Amino acid sequence: MTDTIHPVPEAAAADTRTTLAQYHDRYARSIADPDGFWREQLPRLDWLRTPTVMGNWSWDPVRIRWFEDGMLNAAANCLDRHDPAATAIVWEADAPGAPGRRISYGELLEDTCRMANALVALGVERGDRVTIYMPMIPEAAVAMLACARIGAVHSVVFGGFSAEAIAGRLEDADSRFVITADEGRRGGKTVPLKACVDEALDTHATAQVEAVLVVRHTGGKVAMHPDRDHWWHELRSQVPATCTPEPMNAEDPLFILYTSGSTGKPKGVLHTTAGYLLWANLTFETVFDYKAGELFWCTADVGWITGHSYIVYGPLSAGATILMFEGIPSYPASDRFWQVIEKHRVNIFYTAPTALRAVMRDGDAPVLKHDLSSLRLLGTVGEPINPEAWNWYDRVVGKGKLPIVDTWWQTETGGALITPLPGATPTKPGSATLPFYGVQPALVDAEGTIIPRADGEEISGNLVLLASWPGQARSLHGDHERFTQTYFTTYRGKYFTSDGARQDKDGYWWITGRVDDVINVSGHRMGTAEVESALVAHQDVAEAAVVGFPHDIKGQAIYAYVTLNAGIPASDALLAALRATVRHEIGGIAVPDHIHITPGLPKTRSGKIMRRILRKIAENDFASLGDTSTLADPSVVEALIEGRLNR
Ligand code: PRX
Repeated sequence: MTDTIHPVPEAAAADTRTTLAQYHDRYARSIADPDGFWREQLPRLDWLRTPTVMGNWSWDPVRIRWFEDGMLNAAANCLDRHDPAATAIVWEADAPGAPGRRISYGELLEDTCRMANALVALGVERGDRVTIYMPMIPEAAVAMLACARIGAVHSVVFGGFSAEAIAGRLEDADSRFVITADEGRRGGKTVPLKACVDEALDTHATAQVEAVLVVRHTGGKVAMHPDRDHWWHELRSQVPATCTPEPMNAEDPLFILYTSGSTGKPKGVLHTTAGYLLWANLTFETVFDYKAGELFWCTADVGWITGHSYIVYGPLSAGATILMFEGIPSYPASDRFWQVIEKHRVNIFYTAPTALRAVMRDGDAPVLKHDLSSLRLLGTVGEPINPEAWNWYDRVVGKGKLPIVDTWWQTETGGALITPLPGATPTKPGSATLPFYGVQPALVDAEGTIIPRADGEEISGNLVLLASWPGQARSLHGDHERFTQTYFTTYRGKYFTSDGARQDKDGYWWITGRVDDVINVSGHRMGTAEVESALVAHQDVAEAAVVGFPHDIKGQAIYAYVTLNAGIPASDALLAALRATVRHEIGGIAVPDHIHITPGLPKTRSGKIMRRILRKIAENDFASLGDTSTLADPSVVEALIEGRLNR
């Protein structure tokens, strides 16, 4: 593992709000005196009632509250307090030649108020869950903020999920309202969003949905159900342009965001208002050292937590100007990121390692043909970054002169937890470096005992957090027991991240990846159990077991072992049908890269599938399968290896 230290680049060190000494001081203070530390941060937000209580939490039993007697409105913090003439969103369309948009804070406020009024007119009330299924257009942010303005709870579903997946999330959230668009565009293709919502509503028991608000984006033809569907552009002109923000309690829910776990169906991670917003705001300004007038580009989709925190709530609460991009890095060619940076003079660029690995394949030339001199800071998120990708990012994109912030966090953490500060922290390629203010990481062994570390020593184990921070998720929608079970019982009284990590001799943190049955495919979290249940939904499948295996670009890819019902022969047509089933049940991102039809799966005598063996076989690592003598039928392993070799 490379351990080269990159000192803070000169320009960043000369012009920073946080030096290394200040970071250490503030970090120490945030741990020693959390109340004092957080009280000082309160002026970051506009409060309707300033809180007097800071953190008030317990992890055994689990009850997490921050700023609990405060009142505020998240949308008002993201809109009303900023200069209406300042640019909020610079929007770049999927096709390079297509017209873009520039939206000022004043326009964003008006649009948000109008959509909020439209939602009220459709019957949305405070506390109602509103499902948002949108392309990457400014109206996605408008929809989220409109919900926040009236105290409704948004549940954004990534536009790549299938009708089936939408239906599951609608039902779990008991959501009676949907905001969508006619269609989206991605990489030159049309994404039929409204048709997908129709399918979800027409083919499932989602009769509870009363109204669908449809944004006209491509102008493509869509079916409109007369008593259910409403065009946004029609309602827009019929409702007032102002809307008083609903006074919300600090701990009122702001949003639900579904994410995959190692078991069962996706979990509706619940974030509340004040703590989440303050965390998004503080981490945005500190981790990206954002300065007024700069253009910040986070390439995530609003359907993921990164889009929530670093496209919408962090930057907009800070009055920043964001670039929002509808397309993908490879369309029309693999220089699209760099072309957009040059065109709009982007200052801060935040993306995923998988996107870098994908464009790296084409060499340096696509980057070098663009003027990237506007860039001041680079960031990554979503998965461990391999040192090769880090070094390429540094050398080719950053010309060796820009800080790179590798930010480790999760849907459940609300914002970055382990990350360098750009003007302060020397970096090491592949390490997320040091904890952010208030964050107390530790490594535990299998029994949950904290592994002590002497100065200069290196340790590794499972990553836990020892104390709550304001941005922490409060619960899972409708299932607090599952919240407790998932995060706080493996190591009682500690938050278990499900990541493995090591801490090196300098105290730097290196995240090594998930230790549960979650696969990180191109920075997207995918539960193996979800993919398995999608596969067994096919009539010919008897059983399925899914594991991750290393992939040059995606980080991890999906490998599915499938046994068929008696008498069903394997065929290419069947493989295609299995892929189609997964696409139908979940969406394109869950389709396995390999499907391995096998006569049997390795099971213990008690019937438990031994995934360790399946992982090794998927990795072509037959030498270290470990003890297979406890298998009910050890010969299964031979058949699996033979099947793997024949692929
Ligand atoms: O395994 C870690 C990985 O992504 C997981 C969280 O996924 P999700 O909730 O979808 O949020 C992704 C965006 C915040 C983590 O458990 N992960 C995220 N960032 C990093 C990372 N692994 C290593 N380094 C990172 N910077």
